[in-house]
Amino acid sequence: MASHTIPPVCQLLERQASQLSSDACQVAVPLSAAPFLPHTGHTWVTDLAVANVLNQRGQQVHLGLAAPDQRSEGALLFWPKSHALGLWWLQQLCHWLPEGAPIEIIGEHQGGIKRVPKVLEAAGLACIRLDNARRCSLFATHARPVSFDEAEWGEYSALELKLATHPGVFANGRLDAGTDMLLARLAQEFPKGISGSALDVGCGDGIISLWLARAGAKVSALDVDAFAVETTKRSLALNGLEGEVSIGDMLEGVDDSFDLIVSNPPFHQARDVDIGPARRLIEQAPSRLRPGGKLYIVANVFLPYRASLEACFERVDTLEEDGRYRIYRASSPRRSYKR
Ligand SMILES: C[S@@+](CC[C@H](N)C(=O)[O-])C[C@H]1O[C@@H](n2cnc3c(N)ncnc32)[C@H](O)[C@@H]1O
Repeated sequence: MASHTIPPVCQLLERQASQLSSDACQVAVPLSAAPFLPHTGHTWVTDLAVANVLNQRGQQVHLGLAAPDQRSEGALLFWPKSHALGLWWLQQLCHWLPEGAPIEIIGEHQGGIKRVPKVLEAAGLACIRLDNARRCSLFATHARPVSFDEAEWGEYSALELKLATHPGVFANGRLDAGTDMLLARLAQEFPKGISGSALDVGCGDGIISLWLARAGAKVSALDVDAFAVETTKRSLALNGLEGEVSIGDMLEGVDDSFDLIVSNPPFHQARDVDIGPARRLIEQAPSRLRPGGKLYIVANVFLPYRASLEACFERVDTLEEDGRYRIYRASSPRRSYKR
């Protein structure tokens, strides 16, 4: 859920609004900034939740990894939390924009923007400091083709599966301990494999989908982030496994129903804890489960999911818990939550 406080990057943009080109394509806009952009106009993002907010504001939105067909005369890049993802965006912009086109780069000091001058210098790109306030900085450079090794696709192995990786996609080239615990538990729940359908919500690099598909389930997967969608597709292909992968904001556009819904749901928005999306998943799951269907969730123990689960399901079991994670199984949806 977007906060109503104007984020520091937007405060800095406000005071620079007259200096910045209102034609620049606004790129990689974070969810917190989406409701407050000082300029309307066109945007390029990979996050469906951000795209939905921008659409509601009447912005022209391009959603996806491939650059928009129409070239822009300049861009304003919101430097992301993942440094390697920032490099990916910079590389894309430097190839997409006409050579010499202006690129402005903005970000919070806590988010790593201070590393940008060194990045630009190492790539042989100019760097002009335009402003520095509210613990944020704004830099300017000009497009020129560059490439960064860190910004590329990679691979790793876990649980005898091959996984694709990309900067910015959870869990960045390693198996998350909570996901590991969830999958080990599912192995005990389904020792003979899975014959029904399963939906992996917030699929990230696809590890849960791959595991479910290998166990025999007919798998669907979704994630709000286009990078995660592409990574899961690549991970399935690497293992010769099948699955339908789509972009989605929790279960919003999901019409099908499933025997299993499985998730390691997100609980962060930037640096803040935000369990809004996980709560929505819990509330939406009952109407997307087939009779006898079950929801499996892994969560950090400090996250208060039990009350939401109990409000939506007759039966909620804690299957396992250590000091860090808890595995919930919820079944028998309460009637008030049926569609
Ligand atoms: C904790 S990660 C889990 C990734 C992967 N399933 C795993 O276990 O390694 C949570 C995932 O949820 C995705 N996500 C965040 N908000 C979402 C939303 N509103 N709808 C769908 N997915 C979302 C994130 O992009 C991220 O890939």
